[in-house]
Amino acid sequence: MIKQEEKKLFIETLGCQMNDTDSQHIISELKEHKNYSVTNDMEEADLIIINTCSVREKPVSKLFSEIGQFNKKKKKSAKIGVCGCTASHLGSDIMKRAPYVDFVLGARNISKIKDIIDTKGAVEIDIDYDDSTYQFAASGMNLYKTSVNISIGCDKECTYCIVPATRGDEISIPPEMIVMQIEKDAKNGAKEVTLLGQNVNSYGRRFSDKRAKTNFTKLLQEVSKIEGIERIRFTSPHPLHMDDEFIEEFARNPKISKCIHMPLQSGSTKVLKAMKRGYTKEWFLNRAKKIRDLVPEVRITTDIIVAFPGETQEDFEDTLDVINQVKFDQIFNFKYSPRPNTQALELKDKEISDEIGSARLIEVIELHKLHQSELMNPNIGKIVSVLFETLKPNGEVSGFTDNYCQVFVKGSDELLGRIVDVKITSASRTAFKGEVVN
Ligand code: SAH
Ligand code: SF4
Ligand code: F3S
Repeated sequence: MIKQEEKKLFIETLGCQMNDTDSQHIISELKEHKNYSVTNDMEEADLIIINTCSVREKPVSKLFSEIGQFNKKKKKSAKIGVCGCTASHLGSDIMKRAPYVDFVLGARNISKIKDIIDTKGAVEIDIDYDDSTYQFAASGMNLYKTSVNISIGCDKECTYCIVPATRGDEISIPPEMIVMQIEKDAKNGAKEVTLLGQNVNSYGRRFSDKRAKTNFTKLLQEVSKIEGIERIRFTSPHPLHMDDEFIEEFARNPKISKCIHMPLQSGSTKVLKAMKRGYTKEWFLNRAKKIRDLVPEVRITTDIIVAFPGETQEDFEDTLDVINQVKFDQIFNFKYSPRPNTQALELKDKEISDEIGSARLIEVIELHKLHQSELMNPNIGKIVSVLFETLKPNGEVSGFTDNYCQVFVKGSDELLGRIVDVKITSASRTAFKGEVVN
């Protein structure tokens, strides 16, 4: 076989971890089948890909100015492709606004990457496309940790969210494929796996073929049997589906990392109803309490949207109240951003002013800062186990504790890929410094 000439790929990834994984798949597919290697220098690239996110408006408007810049500076022969959620949602309109774009590939169609790059003007954005039996070339990026999609799409109808329109109906990847992929990565040195989906704990509701009933808890049990895998993480679970069976497995299974994302969105039952989240303030608090009672060392992270249409001061105070009661370790805050193809657009007349939205965002951030110090400082002096993964140029090595807090120590590349005991010597709001304990 004649070896193809080596080419350079520049890829920019926006959005969530699912997009990160999709980008890894793009890289490995193009490496294996088209002899591409990654470059960080856009100007030397033969192919420029932007893997886009549509969840809020800002990144979408930035996209067009950015590809315009790329087009000016790129090599003349270089191609530009727009992939991901904005590709799904805008489709051929992207080429109307930016005619120099060579192809558009939707978030659900990533497996078609190696064919589309040679088809000038192609637009593939079918959200019914069944990718669930597709296997990717090994990613081989970070040796010590890997991530696998366990489902694609989302069946929820959260009224603010564009994701179901960009990623399509939810479909679970067959468990044997997930296990096979993780076994392969574990053989290549992975000790940690992150299971990815928009709604991981509704896993097993629908497959592309007829098969025995299963659920997320059972999947977690299967994955924990894989030799070499010492830590299992997952994102995002939905608070509505955090039943007792799931929480008890989370608490009991020593391989499951004791960090859980509980996307609250709002603390007001009224707003949660308008968002169609399916749970109440009380349910959320009850689930968080059960988790904290069973796993005292747990770290709980969350997503919050402020200024959803119709959110009163009283509703917002409910959100602050939940933040005060749960004391989240990390909060991803967002100001509501109206999105096309979402039901919340019907609430246009109830939209909250930008000024109030920004003020509420600041209030959440300030309250959270107080909690962060309160949660981090008592850990000074404790011994924690850390999986080290990155050597920094300043001689520090960083890794994560079992409950997924970042730790920095002085050390060498000998620590990389190992799980080692570390004594915490100081804490910032978001990370620890420590010393390796021999
Ligand atoms: N499936 C995940 C969320 C994916 S989107 C889940 O349900 O947790 C990531 C986050 O973006 C959401 O949790 C939400 O907080 C935020 N988000 C989604 N749509 C938004 C919008 N229209 N405006 C502001 N934030 C939004
Ligand atoms: Fe969006 Fe809701 Fe699905 Fe999450 S669960 S992706 S917020 S529709
Ligand atoms: Fe963005 Fe798509 Fe993820 S809209 S958050 S990249 S699912």
